[in-house]
Amino acid sequence: MKIHVNFAERSYDILIQKGLRHDVGEILKQSLSSKRLALISGEKAGALYQQELTSSLETAGFQVFPLIIKSGEMNKNMQTVSAIYDFLLANKFDRGSAVIALGGGIIGDMAGFAAATIFRGISFVQIPTTLLAQVDSSIGGKTGVNHALGKNLIGAFYQPKAVLIDPQFLKTLPPRELLCGYAEMLKMALIADADLAETLWLQREKLLNPILVESTSQLIFSAIQIKKAIVEADETESGRRMLLNFGHTIGHAIENVSGYGNILHGEAVLMGMIAALHLSFQHKFLSDAQFTEWTQRFHQLLLERLPFTFSKEKILTAMRLDKKISNGLMKFILLKTIGKGIIIENISLTELHDSLDFLEENLSYG
Ligand SMILES: NC(=O)c1ccc[n+]([C@@H]2O[C@H](COP(=O)([O-])OP(=O)(O)OC[C@H]3O[C@@H](n4cnc5c(N)ncnc54)[C@H](O)[C@@H]3O)[C@@H](O)[C@H]2O)c1
Ligand SMILES: [Zn+2]
Repeated sequence: MKIHVNFAERSYDILIQKGLRHDVGEILKQSLSSKRLALISGEKAGALYQQELTSSLETAGFQVFPLIIKSGEMNKNMQTVSAIYDFLLANKFDRGSAVIALGGGIIGDMAGFAAATIFRGISFVQIPTTLLAQVDSSIGGKTGVNHALGKNLIGAFYQPKAVLIDPQFLKTLPPRELLCGYAEMLKMALIADADLAETLWLQREKLLNPILVESTSQLIFSAIQIKKAIVEADETESGRRMLLNFGHTIGHAIENVSGYGNILHGEAVLMGMIAALHLSFQHKFLSDAQFTEWTQRFHQLLLERLPFTFSKEKILTAMRLDKKISNGLMKFILLKTIGKGIIIENISLTELHDSLDFLEENLSYG
């Protein structure tokens, strides 16, 4: 399956195909003019797949320089990017060379940022190996790192030359990581496609099972289609792309106060979506039935993490620091209905408090 992403002279293809990792060399011969490649992987994807990819690339005539970097949100910083620069410079990379990211979103974001900035930009390819990276982070060209003061504060919009997706990479992914990708797929469907949201729910057992997930290429394809259409229309997030932050305003605050790593991004987003559903319900956008059905579904997905205790005060403080709370009215992504996201600028502090209370109650019993 192929999806063409249209950014004028920066257009490229996303390929989704089981077993595609064996053909990466042949495929990239068409989109890369450079012969010198840095293959940057995280520790797990590196140990599992770097060798296979290196052989495929070398057979196709590329000269491969493999580098394994530590993944983990705490390593997603300028120090690691600096180590990537050191590696590229020590190996005499130049403007004509290229960087391939093989791994989850953390590796893609960092390798992409290094590629965007070294020599003011060299060719970059994404080979995402987590469900979250396949449906979300590898699509749309956001790259970057965290700063001590907040997540993803340093970065660049930088489109890759290709995104190569092999659903078989997901066989080795722990179910907890599959849930994170699944959460982002639900997010995309809830803001843009009610039928897909329902299908995703019905197919959850496949999507959350490492043995079965490779059979869900079509669903991965559908989620990417949504993200692609949104980012094509608004590459630098001046409007519509903000819809992709559904569940993330409160989600980021939860991630922040729980300590990165204790709770995973997708889990925090699931929690954030519960609060956003409540805000949508308070705003009279969702019916009682829609609201109850989807909060119960999210609750069920989070069951293994419950009860989850959080401090409302700490979340509000994190949101204040993140400049998400002003004295007056706040901006949130809500659902106008299931399958239609909407940017709302007039959420009051009282509504936010009510939603956090609802969330706390929802997460307090298993
Ligand atoms: N650029 C964007 O638009 C965008 C969008 C969403 C999220 N993100 C970023 O993505 C990051 C999260 O990405 P993630 O969820 O992929 O996390 P991640 O990169 O930390 O990967 C999750 C874990 O899975 C391991 N792993 C990777 N591939 C594997 C495989 N095939 N088999 C077994 N283990 C494997 C990794 O080593 C890691 O331990 C966050 O930093 C987030 O900010 C970016
Ligand atoms: Zn996310």
